[in-house]
Amino acid sequence: MSFVKGKRAIWLAAAGGLAVGVVLVVLADWVDPKISSQEFCTGACHSMQVHVAGKDYYQQSVHRSTHTGVVTGCGDCHIPNELVPATWVHVKKGLADIYATLVRDLDSPEAWAARRPALTEEARHWFLETDSATCRHCHRKDAIEPRSQAGRTMHGIARQKGMTCIECHTNLVHPPAGS
Ligand code: HEC
Ligand code: HEC
Ligand code: HEC
Repeated sequence: MSFVKGKRAIWLAAAGGLAVGVVLVVLADWVDPKISSQEFCTGACHSMQVHVAGKDYYQQSVHRSTHTGVVTGCGDCHIPNELVPATWVHVKKGLADIYATLVRDLDSPEAWAARRPALTEEARHWFLETDSATCRHCHRKDAIEPRSQAGRTMHGIARQKGMTCIECHTNLVHPPAGS
């Protein structure tokens, strides 16, 4: 291959790579919100519908029924807000979830109850690792003024020690596993 040809091949490869990259980003940008939606999470998997979106706990939580009309969906808490991490979580967790649903028959209440404690731990660990980033997407840490004295004291401690939301706020929208 002559020098000129080699150079042209590199340019072609670069242009091709760029085009593929642009297409992938556009595609991810379009697909991510769709598969983060409440409808998708609870429609695709029976386990999510029955156990997580259960009327009692989830629907009655402040995150679902505020008089202000702010409705926090599954993806608002569980899917990162930035495109690249969001796509990564979708690919990795999505495949794992589909595999688990197929292999473990999570539609059965017993199988789901047995599996849940581990999932709860896993989810909390993720919030811990990410410094509760999705929570902080809506709640500005230094702007929170708890109404109760206990809340203000704890938030003072949180600030001092650099603690993150999930260390104190658990079971906001899901019942404790085992209940
Ligand atoms: C889509 C935005 C959004 C996300 C994401 C979100 N929240 Fe909220 N949160 C709200 C709104 C809105 C309220 C109700 C505020 C009100 O009533 O003034 C609320 C209320 C709360 C409350 C008060 C509960 C009560 O009983 O009064 C806590 C605690 C809280 N959120 C923590 C969290 C934590 C921890 C996370 C992450 C796991 C999180 N939030 C994720 C929007 C969000
Ligand atoms: C050290 C423990 C701790 C940490 C860490 C913490 N909180 Fe809290 N938070 C509390 C306590 C305790 C209350 C008061 C609960 C009550 O009075 O029922 C509270 C209250 C709140 C409220 C309700 C305010 C009100 O009175 O209506 C919101 C919203 C909230 N926290 C969000 C967050 C978010 C978001 C984070 C992470 C950025 C966070 N908290 C981190 C302990 C903590
Ligand atoms: C306000 C934020 C928030 C919203 C909204 C939310 N989750 Fe969660 N989710 C959490 C947190 C925090 C945990 C960790 C366990 C706990 O403390 O509740 C969790 C845990 C889980 C788990 C692990 C098993 C369990 O129940 O503990 C699954 C599965 C799950 N969520 C699915 C969903 C689905 C599906 C939706 C929508 C119907 C949803 N979540 C909505 C914050 C949220």
